Amino acid sequence: MKIEIMGSALNECKARCLVILATSDGKSLNGSKEAEAVLEPFVKSGEFGESFGGSMYVTDPKGLAAERVLFYNLGKEVKKANDLRKATARSWKGLRDKGFKTVAMSLNGLDEAQARAAYEGIAFGNYAYTEFKTEDDSKPKKLESLTLLAADEMKDKIASWEAQARGTNHARDLCQMPPNILNPIKFADIAVEWGKEYGLKTTILNREEIEEEGMGTMMAVAQGSAAQPRFIIMDYTPDTTPKKTICLVGKAVTFDSGGLNIKTSMMHEMKGDMGGGATVAGIMTALRDVKCPHRVIALIPSVENMPSAMATRPSDVVKSLSGITVEINNTDAEGRLIMADALTYAGRYKPDFVMDFATLTGACVVALGPKVFGVMGNHQPLIDAIVKTSWELHEPFWQLPLFDDYKELLKSSTADISNMSSSRYGGAIAAGLFLERFARDYQWVHCDIAAGIFDKADDYNPVGGVGAGVRTIIEVLENL
Ligand code: BES
Ligand code: ZN
Ligand code: ZN
Repeated sequence: MKIEIMGSALNECKARCLVILATSDGKSLNGSKEAEAVLEPFVKSGEFGESFGGSMYVTDPKGLAAERVLFYNLGKEVKKANDLRKATARSWKGLRDKGFKTVAMSLNGLDEAQARAAYEGIAFGNYAYTEFKTEDDSKPKKLESLTLLAADEMKDKIASWEAQARGTNHARDLCQMPPNILNPIKFADIAVEWGKEYGLKTTILNREEIEEEGMGTMMAVAQGSAAQPRFIIMDYTPDTTPKKTICLVGKAVTFDSGGLNIKTSMMHEMKGDMGGGATVAGIMTALRDVKCPHRVIALIPSVENMPSAMATRPSDVVKSLSGITVEINNTDAEGRLIMADALTYAGRYKPDFVMDFATLTGACVVALGPKVFGVMGNHQPLIDAIVKTSWELHEPFWQLPLFDDYKELLKSSTADISNMSSSRYGGAIAAGLFLERFARDYQWVHCDIAAGIFDKADDYNPVGGVGAGVRTIIEVLENL
């Protein structure tokens, strides 16, 4: 989607169609008297309605240079910026069904959070994964260009939102891809391609190299699958001297069957078990365009978790890259195994911060429901920043405690630690404590984004993986 930014007044905008957000009393959010005059008779007659979601489509609006206007009803007042995300996504969907390929909208008069939400509703509402749709009729139409009326000083901000939306949509693409197509090798190929496109240095470790490094817990997951593992490293260095060094670690299990502890339900959802890797890769694609001042290194261990004659047995003991031995009592708790080695690897960069992202536990979804992500770690200010930013952007994270007493739930009789908790309860925290054991000597935050897998399609999200946290983390990085 192409974006054009124009400084002109709303009444002078010569668009094919202009979207105008208004409250039910007929006040335009842009404060345009001309637009309000066009809307007024429809408010008086009751056609515009009282509540959020109504709209009025007007052709040849008097006093406005646009050919058409779509007034969208925000209800009595705008309570949350996210209402605008919904409103513009729905406005756009209505217009695309009328065959429009381009729309215009004014950001003048909106505060920053509102302006961003209004833009994102269109950028995300316009998202559709159509790679395998062969019949044109079943492909949703897409918007080709968006004209935004905004002041000049908004240009940099809009460019940043645009890069973040693109990163989010890139992450969504990975989540949507079927697991017979997106195996670890393909994930690595895409990382290399994005690296070239977005100015990153990408390095891929193949199976032999992963083994030689001594990533024993990662190999324990990979060995059951015919698909070879890949360890993906994407490195961003800013033009200026980096302020900080940050590692982002992302779980990329391209399919999680459970292994020999085979899943008995919802297995098809597990194509999304690479969501952490998708989030991290998506973030990386935006860093140059948002002018991130830090060096950022993405570490994405990618494997497929399958049962086979080669597969890890429950009760096998393996040695991790850190030297810590792990008793694998449940092959379905594979995410923490690949993350353990990646967290150890992260230590080599002497990072100021490490943030990890993983669709790690069903327990986190039980605790927080299908739309809220878990966050825990050893650096409270960074956790606070993630939580605060995430709520502003409506991709909420909520902190869970890394409660020391629960460490004993991970005791193993034969090895240093077990990958399975001895309790049925508190699984998200137990998984966090397992990772903590490997997140040594640096400030670290763990994000359990398992909820991302379950998302149902809504106004501006596709079904399945949503690119959880991409926008939040880019914002947090900018302010670190
Ligand atoms: N990928 C799953 C976690 C998951 C479950 C993500 C549901 C999204 C939705 C993970 O590998 C897993 O299977 N975890 C187990 C851990 C258990 C065996 C200790 C779980 O959550 O049940
Ligand atoms: Zn699993
Ligand atoms: Zn998994």
